[in-house]
Amino acid sequence: MSELSVIILAAGKSTRMKSSRSKLLHEVGGKKVITRVCRAVAALEPTSVVAVCSFQASEVFHEVQQVTGNAVMVDQGQPRGTGHAVLKGLEGVSENAENILVLAGDIPLIKSETLRALINKHLDSSSDVSFITMMCAEPFGYGRVIRKGNVPVHIMEQADLKTEFENIKECNSGIYIFRRTFLQKYLESLNTDNAKGEFYLTDLIKKAAEISVVQTTSAPESEVTGVNTRAHFAYAEAQLLNEIVTAHMDNGVGFLFPDEVYIHDTVTIGQDSFIEKDVVLKGNTQIGNHVYIGQGAIIVDSVINDNVEIKPYSVIEASSVGMKSVVGPFARLRPGNDVGTNCRIGNFVEMKKVTMDRGVKAGHLSYLGDASIGEDSNIGAGTITCNYDGKNKFRTTLGKRVFVGSDSQLIAPVTVGDDTYIGTGTTVMDDAESSSLVINPKTQKVVNPWKPPYLRT
Ligand code: UD1
Ligand code: MG
Repeated sequence: MSELSVIILAAGKSTRMKSSRSKLLHEVGGKKVITRVCRAVAALEPTSVVAVCSFQASEVFHEVQQVTGNAVMVDQGQPRGTGHAVLKGLEGVSENAENILVLAGDIPLIKSETLRALINKHLDSSSDVSFITMMCAEPFGYGRVIRKGNVPVHIMEQADLKTEFENIKECNSGIYIFRRTFLQKYLESLNTDNAKGEFYLTDLIKKAAEISVVQTTSAPESEVTGVNTRAHFAYAEAQLLNEIVTAHMDNGVGFLFPDEVYIHDTVTIGQDSFIEKDVVLKGNTQIGNHVYIGQGAIIVDSVINDNVEIKPYSVIEASSVGMKSVVGPFARLRPGNDVGTNCRIGNFVEMKKVTMDRGVKAGHLSYLGDASIGEDSNIGAGTITCNYDGKNKFRTTLGKRVFVGSDSQLIAPVTVGDDTYIGTGTTVMDDAESSSLVINPKTQKVVNPWKPPYLRT
């Protein structure tokens, strides 16, 4: 394929978002809008990428660079419309570029295959411009594609729309490929003689139609929707989510209510796993086969291995859970846990940076932080690792088959050997060897007979 240069329009003020941040820095499906657009562009392996920036230029361009690596930024200064933006952008494009893909930075769900189809159609024709259209059930806000016969002759913007064109459902997606010589010749001739007083890039369609046949390809609105308002963002999220959940179901993942979960497109889920209502799976999360995830569980950047059961309302971050383990309900795994196979982590257990070997049980109401727990150990209800002295953190190391009685505290740093038994209510202050009994002697006093004060005469 011939050289491909790309101009991304990313300078707009995002007025309709009513936000202090550029809309391109807001997220859809956990990734910034501009990042998503740049990823689709980068997959085409373009020879050069120019980002036209202005509002929050350094932040927006930083995101562009994160994806593309070698983009060039052109500062539009005061944004004066998409036509003005492309005029400025041309300054960054090589003279050798024959065709230039121009796309708005606010189309987060655009796919590279769709861009590729546009490029191919354009290259197969002798057109000066080709662009992507979409059929919109509710076209309000978009530029309408006006055709004569079957050929596009004009794009009329919403603000300038004549009533006779109000029923047109075919809209401009904001994605075009231009012959560079055409752009160079005609961009300067755009004017601001329109309702918004801006230089509309879309006015070039009329010009191109006079010279050659303008080509179009089409894409679903769900993919090329532009995000200008908060409502558009909500729409884009819903479209993306629908696509993600549908793909998982096609791969054999069950959902009780597919519309009532939230899953990022970075998450993988194995076959025969089942996801209940209100589950949130984010970031770099991998769920194995036959995993059951109960209602309201939130899992971020974690690995959940095969046959695990995550019971309702558990929160798991940056941790891994081994095969056949059961977590929750209401368990909280903060970052850095490595839970082995066949473990049991019950309700109201909080864990941070804990390594658990196979078969460990921590069934109820515990805080375990900075600890290593050997296989088949049992952590009684109410156990606390006292890992923090107000300044530094210390580790607790328990051997295999250690039994920690309920309501015990382990004052770190502390090491307890294999097969040691810690009696109920013990504060473990010093290391204990293998096969020991550790208790803090207490005496029981029984007063009898005794009556509570209110029963005394
Ligand atoms: C634009 C199109 C409209 C199309 C719609 C698709 C024009 C005149 N209209 O309208 O036909 O249906 O996209 O989503 O092009 N930008 C700049 N500099 C500027 C103005 C805008 O870089 O001076 C950037 C914005 O950051 C944005 C993109 O260009 O990423 C499009 O601008 P926006 O204001 O969103 O145009 P729309 O009103 O959506
Ligand atoms: Mg827009």
